[in-house]
Amino acid sequence: MYCESKIWLALSLLFVANYNQNYVHGESKVPCIFIFGDSLSDSGNNNNLATNAKSNFKPYGIDFPTGPTGRFTNGRNTIDIITQFLGFENFIPPFANTSGSDILKGVNYASGSAGIRDESGGNRGAHISLGLQLENHRLIVTQIASKIGGLKKAKKYLSKCLYYVNIGSNDYLNNYFLPEYYPTSTIYTPHQYAEALIQQLTLNLQVLEDVGARKYVLVGLGSLGCTPFHISDGSCFEPLNTASLIFSQKLKSLVDQLNNKTSTNSKFIFLNSTTSALINAKGFTVTTVACCASGSFGECIPDRRPCPNRTEYVFWDENHTTEAWNLVTATIFYNSSYPDSTYPMNIKQFVEQDIKMKLQFISQPGRFYADE
Ligand SMILES: *[C@@H]1O[C@H](CO)[C@@H](O)[C@H](O)[C@H]1NC(C)=O
Ligand SMILES: *[C@@H]1O[C@H](CO)[C@@H](O)[C@H](O)[C@H]1NC(C)=O
Ligand SMILES: *[C@@H]1O[C@H](CO)[C@@H](O)[C@H](O)[C@H]1NC(C)=O
Ligand SMILES: *[C@@H]1O[C@H](CO)[C@@H](O)[C@H](O)[C@H]1NC(C)=O
Ligand SMILES: *[C@@H]1O[C@H](CO)[C@@H](O)[C@H](O)[C@H]1NC(C)=O
Ligand SMILES: *[C@@H]1O[C@H](CO)[C@@H](O)[C@H](O)[C@H]1NC(C)=O
Repeated sequence: MYCESKIWLALSLLFVANYNQNYVHGESKVPCIFIFGDSLSDSGNNNNLATNAKSNFKPYGIDFPTGPTGRFTNGRNTIDIITQFLGFENFIPPFANTSGSDILKGVNYASGSAGIRDESGGNRGAHISLGLQLENHRLIVTQIASKIGGLKKAKKYLSKCLYYVNIGSNDYLNNYFLPEYYPTSTIYTPHQYAEALIQQLTLNLQVLEDVGARKYVLVGLGSLGCTPFHISDGSCFEPLNTASLIFSQKLKSLVDQLNNKTSTNSKFIFLNSTTSALINAKGFTVTTVACCASGSFGECIPDRRPCPNRTEYVFWDENHTTEAWNLVTATIFYNSSYPDSTYPMNIKQFVEQDIKMKLQFISQPGRFYADE
């Protein structure tokens, strides 16, 4: 018994040392982040694609340190800011240009106009659908495996990364609600369509799990009918809001369902992009008009001077929010304690829960090695 408690003490001290090393001395809270999504997260993957869903020109990036990059906003995207909150020194590089970057820290596969369904966004041109983003991830996993000594080691490493999935808007904007291009609204009711999307997403998450993913952040859709592109006479386009809310509710239920599965040790959280914490955000005086002068797709017209007071605007172009709004969103997602915003917990708690699990192992010495 005495001997056992000595071992405990040793393990606890080891743990404290490890804790300090990883979480106090300026290191990131997770070793890596992989990002899947659309223009809300794209950081340059569309720049060389044959599409008009691009943003690598001024005034996009006017508040970004290196100017236009292919981000669809004036500064940082929500996931860029979350990446900084998690302690990363650099942004996660786009898959289209990982040269000079450390892919062990993660890759951003997001592509403007992409959806869960392959055809979504095709009206805008080429894009990297969720399925193709996963194929790109498999290529990266192969590269990681050869860097760190095989697939088994790679999978163990990859199980510690965060997988951020923010996709689905274009399955509505650039599919279901574009009947002149797509027949989906004649085939499915909004409930059936949301269900079909969730089923396809679930299969994709399974593919991710097969290559090591265990920690997933799933983001619900925004108020798609309330963007300047869709607001008319001061009113939101409610059918779009109603349909996309059905998807978000099903996504939240999926999180419960997958967290309850005892056969895997994967963990999921849901983030609510229309949470009242966000809707009630202070300081935004312009909520229905874009900051930049916008063209026929709602995109910024090249080289026009945008509004000077960008922190007062919710919208940068007619479809995408400003960095100021993204900062509020990222802050809520990262450390809100309101279950309507982050479910069942926020990102900070999600990445710190491993520490708690290790502590439990320490107080139950027999089980300690189960962690390995
Ligand atoms: C690729 O990324 C590197 C490092 O971030 C950057 O210096 C370079 O300009 C990028 N190249 C292209 C073509 O975007
Ligand atoms: C999963 O677990 C949660 C919390 O324990 C519970 O509220 C929910 O009903 C369960 N959901 C499913 C789909 O089993
Ligand atoms: C997100 O929050 C809003 C506002 O509180 C709420 O109406 C909506 O149901 C929430 N969405 C989900 C999927 O829970
Ligand atoms: C804006 O959204 C509309 C549909 O809501 C879409 O047709 C258009 O391509 C989008 N434009 C941009 C710049 O993303
Ligand atoms: C933003 O700046 C413009 C020009 O300086 C000014 O007219 C306006 O009142 C400011 N506020 C908003 C909310 O547009
Ligand atoms: C939430 O996180 C942000 C970024 O780390 C921080 O600035 C802020 O103080 C935090 N808020 C709370 C209530 O913890």
